[in-house]
Amino acid sequence: MAAPLPNHPNLRGNYGPINFEASYSDLVIEGTVPADLCGSLYRIGPNPKFVEGTYHWFFGAGMVHAFHIENGRVDYLNRWMRTPKFEKEVELGRGLNLEININQETGQIESNRRNGVANTHILAHGEHLVALEEGSHPFSVDPKSLTSEGYGRYGDGIKGAMTAHPKIDPLTGELHGFGYMTDHFGSNTMTYHVIDKLGRTLRSDVFEAPYAGMVHDFVITRDYVLFPIFPLTCDMSRIAKFGFPFAFDSSAGAFIGVLERGAPVSKIRWLEAPVCYVYHYLNAWNEGGRVTFDSIDFPMAPNFPTVEGNLPAHADAQGKLTRWTVDVNTGAIDREQTLGVASEFPRIDDRFAASRHRHGYIAAASQRSKGDGGLFHEITHIDYDSGNIRSWDAGFGNAVSEPVFVEKSGEAKEGEGWLLATLFDSQTVTSSLVILDAQAVEEGPVARAKLDHRIPYGFHGSWRQGR
Ligand SMILES: [Fe+2]
Repeated sequence: MAAPLPNHPNLRGNYGPINFEASYSDLVIEGTVPADLCGSLYRIGPNPKFVEGTYHWFFGAGMVHAFHIENGRVDYLNRWMRTPKFEKEVELGRGLNLEININQETGQIESNRRNGVANTHILAHGEHLVALEEGSHPFSVDPKSLTSEGYGRYGDGIKGAMTAHPKIDPLTGELHGFGYMTDHFGSNTMTYHVIDKLGRTLRSDVFEAPYAGMVHDFVITRDYVLFPIFPLTCDMSRIAKFGFPFAFDSSAGAFIGVLERGAPVSKIRWLEAPVCYVYHYLNAWNEGGRVTFDSIDFPMAPNFPTVEGNLPAHADAQGKLTRWTVDVNTGAIDREQTLGVASEFPRIDDRFAASRHRHGYIAAASQRSKGDGGLFHEITHIDYDSGNIRSWDAGFGNAVSEPVFVEKSGEAKEGEGWLLATLFDSQTVTSSLVILDAQAVEEGPVARAKLDHRIPYGFHGSWRQGR
């Protein structure tokens, strides 16, 4: 019998899970869904059915929400990701800790990378749809029914785990990714992966980072792969001190690993970088040896303790959109804040990934300083060429998800498209899919497809074109 969930801030309000799977056809729509929009928006996040012991938002069982859109009509369904861990929890009727195997000879924590929570990102590549979580292998999902298909059908043979933020190169069609702590938990080894559209592993090469740390995202350009490493370090001795191995340790410094595309990982060079913390990058490109990337920079890692074991104050751990320029030959780095508002979940028109982008889209929270308790309540468009910044504010207390860009047609110019996001209405305690014109964000949604229930705050999502 399922026990009540523990009293934890990430298990309350709209962080808390929903305890059902549903399928709804033909949602009620306010406005008009663009007639030629045909495909599926997927959203994923933690939605634990059972919790054992201490809880962290990042470790709840993944649930996917899908909006299938065609001919102006929207169907919806949500399903748990039935990983081996989740199936076992259902069988036992109680939560399990993440798989931990201690090697009796080495004393190290080992994992087969196939017992994760599949809760962070969901991404279509070729005919595959995979749920991703950075401690595990990609977890395959049926794009229409959301039936869990399991590990090993995509990217089989990769060494170590796969980041939740791999990059699909629109020119080659290949997916580039990485893993960290490849050899074992607490190791400074990482892996660089390349996977083709058929899901076959083309390369999975192990290298050493300056230290063992949590690495959430990275960037690629046409000519380079960059692995920025910020000091959310892993030290097993902290478990005895404050029960958790990860902490933000600014004394460890920050580094960017630079690899030319196609070169062996033995050629990675490490550049010293300013200390901060970055979960997510908007995109990157290079002009010769000058690499530009946009990221959400935090002064320290939110949601994780300092080396003293204290969580940072909310006001001290706000992320801001920042542009970096890195001369990979001299190691010179410039950094400039481009938006002075707390924001996260940056996205672009993905057809321009690894090339110079003009437009960026993020979830922002300009009312957070006024005590807004929601996650992010604005969808904001940044035009880097004109300098224009346009926002739609969903209202105090409401929350928007990461805005996903969908081009209006194959011939559309960069930025000619729709932004799809989920909206949580704190008054009605329900969620909806909202569709905005990416060239007129400030006008608000052109359509809202309404649910009778809420979608808990989650992490990421993406679009899959076609039926
Ligand atoms: Fe992420």
